[in-house]
Amino acid sequence: MVLIGVGRTADVYVVDERWVLRRYRDAGLGDAEAERALMAYLHRCGYPVPVVRPRENSPATDLVMERLDGPTMTGALFAGLITPQEAGATLALLLTGLHSLPARWSADPRERILHLDLHPENVILTSSGPRVIDWSTAAEGHPGLDRAMTAVILARTGAANPKRTAVMRDVLAALLAAPSARLDPEELEEALRLRTSDPAMTEREIALLGRAGATVREVAGLQPA
Ligand SMILES: Nc1ncnc2c1ncn2[C@@H]1O[C@H](COP(=O)(O)OP(=O)(O)O)[C@@H](O)[C@H]1O
Ligand SMILES: [Mg+2]
Repeated sequence: MVLIGVGRTADVYVVDERWVLRRYRDAGLGDAEAERALMAYLHRCGYPVPVVRPRENSPATDLVMERLDGPTMTGALFAGLITPQEAGATLALLLTGLHSLPARWSADPRERILHLDLHPENVILTSSGPRVIDWSTAAEGHPGLDRAMTAVILARTGAANPKRTAVMRDVLAALLAAPSARLDPEELEEALRLRTSDPAMTEREIALLGRAGATVREVAGLQPA
């Protein structure tokens, strides 16, 4: 099978013109079945995710989904196909749209489905609009945490790569300028805590998160920590 995508935890292969296979490198890295059920629910709600195929007899590491035809938002941004303002506004719309849907499990009406990793690598810009992929970290909770997580990831990507710092800051500013995207300082701290608590984090990554937090506070007009 032809490999078309390599992520942190999974590889993505072409099945045919219409479908791709996303396969976890290790069964312990994620729950493809839970992602399939969530993506099917989101699709029924009209949210822009790839169509998923029923499991049939496939291994638990595998998810077969619609093959998407465009670049990632990161690819489009650095190829000059979209502006940082368009990228930030699109991320804001994708977050708001997700958070407008009813949660599947939570009885608390303030809690919604959260992606928790909704950044430009996980958005594919198809000819019929953006599609959100990589639902491995999804959970239910307060929407502000999802927005804060996206903001932290944008700032961290900028901090990690000097060539991308200015562009990522502009994407972040556009995200935070959207009326729905006001950041709550406590949710920002929670997002930073969640990212920092990953035992796989290196010292360098933790230092980058410190800088990312400072950038988000500055762009959002919040008090420094
Ligand atoms: N449905 C799809 N159609 C085409 N390419 C895809 C699709 N899903 C994922 N990819 C490609 O595979 C890459 C990794 O997929 P992703 O689900 O984000 O894995 P990871 O969790 O490991 O980051 C994506 O950045 C994208 O380039
Ligand atoms: Mg990904």
